[in-house]
Amino acid sequence: AKPIKVALLGCGTVGTEIVRLLTEQAPDLASRIGAPVELAGIAVRRLGKARPGVPAELLTTDAAELVTRPDVDVVVEVIGGIEPTRTWLIDALRAGKSVVTANKTLLAEHAGDLFAESDTFGGDLYFEAAVAGAIPLLRPLRESLAGDRITRVMGIVNGTTNFILSAMDETGAGYAETLEEAARLGYAEADPTADVDGYDAASKAAILASLSFHTRVTAGDVYREGISAVTPADVSAARALGRTIKLLAICERVDTPDGESVAVRVHPAMIPRTHPLAGVNGAFNAVFVEAEAAGQLMFYGQGAGGAPTASAVLGDLVAVARNLVVGGRGPRESAYADLPVRPIAQA
Ligand code: HSE
Repeated sequence: AKPIKVALLGCGTVGTEIVRLLTEQAPDLASRIGAPVELAGIAVRRLGKARPGVPAELLTTDAAELVTRPDVDVVVEVIGGIEPTRTWLIDALRAGKSVVTANKTLLAEHAGDLFAESDTFGGDLYFEAAVAGAIPLLRPLRESLAGDRITRVMGIVNGTTNFILSAMDETGAGYAETLEEAARLGYAEADPTADVDGYDAASKAAILASLSFHTRVTAGDVYREGISAVTPADVSAARALGRTIKLLAICERVDTPDGESVAVRVHPAMIPRTHPLAGVNGAFNAVFVEAEAAGQLMFYGQGAGGAPTASAVLGDLVAVARNLVVGGRGPRESAYADLPVRPIAQA
């Protein structure tokens, strides 16, 4: 069969793992998809950086040209940021390409624009890696639970802050020194204030709420408080009370006198050490989902890091490539209930 050609945007922690997995697993992927998958080009901000295992002849700094190239079938985006990334992905969708993205910041602001282009031009839009790294979570919400009524989603969705809070709890370390280690291990964002101030978790909460409640929640709708004010004294006080501090993202349907709405918040919370989320340590993430018919579900796994995130991206790439081979389409997001979002002034 004709090869599926992939344009990769970004070749950092996650991008290099995608290249490695695509290369190492090429024969298996080809048999699972029914066609070989080949890299058509890799767009990077700067050439000349050492990128072991990455074919130098595929590198380009011209992402705008790469995403609309006629031979490209799928654009995989792990470069991050809002602009120019948003423009590149919109141009790719308008050119009929399918898009796989891990970009939570972009989706939390502009998912509606991207879904609209995907629906109009027919390319798939998959983004499993945008929330909770390797954990299969968004496809279960979009597909497996599509017949149920989700009432609440709550969890630990930022690996860096969970790594820091776990280390503070286990060793009494301060957060600045642990943050350096989280950055070295490839968990932290390029600008780690996105992690510690809760912006990253707020973006993920917005995506989770949008999918769970079939409405549009953007990062700005999310009440947000990070962990920079959490001190070692807070952590030991929590411990003395049989509790531990976790940064939680909480998305709920709420009834108000004016009808149903959605409330979304991110903040540190003291939870009993017997709570299942209390045992989620290091860069692991875990998300509880409550649905009317399904009851309680829990998703758990590695939420950050190059290989776990690349696993989710590759899973999306296989789904998109299979759709191209057999002519299917991924889930649409055009049917929204447009539930109002209730601003939360206080946690
Ligand atoms: N910086 C993010 C985290 C990476 O720590 O969870 C995964 O989205």
